[in-house]
Amino acid sequence: DKLHQFLHALPKCEHHVHIEGTISPELLFRLASKNEISLPSDDPAFESPTTLLTRYQNFSSLDDFLHYYFIGFSVLLGASDFEALTYDYISLAYAQKVYHAEIFFDPQAHISRGVPYHTVIAGMNAAKDRAAVDFPKLSVEFIPCLLRHLPVPSAHGLLTELLESGHFFDGTLVGFGMSSTELGKHPSLYKSVYEVAQSAGIANLTAHYGEEGPSDYVKDALSILGVGRIDHGRRSVEDAELITQLAESNTMLTLCPISNVVLKGVDNMHDLPIRKFLDADVRFSINSDDPAYFGGYILENYCAVQEAFELTVDDWGKIARGAIAGSWCSSLRKEQLL
Ligand code: ADE
Ligand code: ZN
Repeated sequence: DKLHQFLHALPKCEHHVHIEGTISPELLFRLASKNEISLPSDDPAFESPTTLLTRYQNFSSLDDFLHYYFIGFSVLLGASDFEALTYDYISLAYAQKVYHAEIFFDPQAHISRGVPYHTVIAGMNAAKDRAAVDFPKLSVEFIPCLLRHLPVPSAHGLLTELLESGHFFDGTLVGFGMSSTELGKHPSLYKSVYEVAQSAGIANLTAHYGEEGPSDYVKDALSILGVGRIDHGRRSVEDAELITQLAESNTMLTLCPISNVVLKGVDNMHDLPIRKFLDADVRFSINSDDPAYFGGYILENYCAVQEAFELTVDDWGKIARGAIAGSWCSSLRKEQLL
């Protein structure tokens, strides 16, 4: 119908997609076979791409998903694997009118398997270079995330390696974030890591909070870690003062509606605070998170929000402009996107 056409045509910015979360069950099995990686034989979900996809429809929580998500990493070995994965995502996103994409990746989970950081980034950069030729209207940026289920010293090790690469200062990496399990991982645990990032001059910092964890984690991430953005941030709605703070500071939340429903953060789409954030002038973007696992890319997320909240064209204009303003690109690029 007309609104679907409008949502399709709307130029989009995606700020919250994990490249490892874009691996389809088919590609996962194909790469496992090519790279001679054996998948878990004690889990019937790994019988075939079909059984795996069925299992994805029954996630009980973030940690239940993360178990499968990190098994999926094991099939990614060479730079060409990362190139194919990244190029396929970019093509799909571009077909849904994504004109600016900021892509997360989890270097620690590759390095710990013996796949060096430079292999991962070489593949992703090759995809970005091809996309610059094939999709000249699209800008692509990369953001490494530290993993919260690993010990804090491992996060320091990652940051040291990334700083030594010089990639935060040559345009390869646009910022630094953190992901993985949330409950019990209070921001104060990562204060020293973010202090190193700040004093090294990394301009753009973010962190996943308020997905499963309480609004205090969001508030403390802002004050203790100095992040300029919050990934998810859904549960910020539980603290009226925090809502005001987010609105006044123009801090963008990168919401992932389908992800929140699939991982049981909310019972259904209507329970998301979309209307409340709009009314309170909290800036947010709408994103896919791990589209191959959750059954929806960015357009499906826009459409799901539309069905649940019946937003107006003006509401969508506000969302789209907020997403551009909150992007980590130059002001010149923002003007082009407007
Ligand atoms: N890594 C990939 N997807 C994630 C999510 N939704 N929350 C935390 N870590 C993640
Ligand atoms: Zn995420």
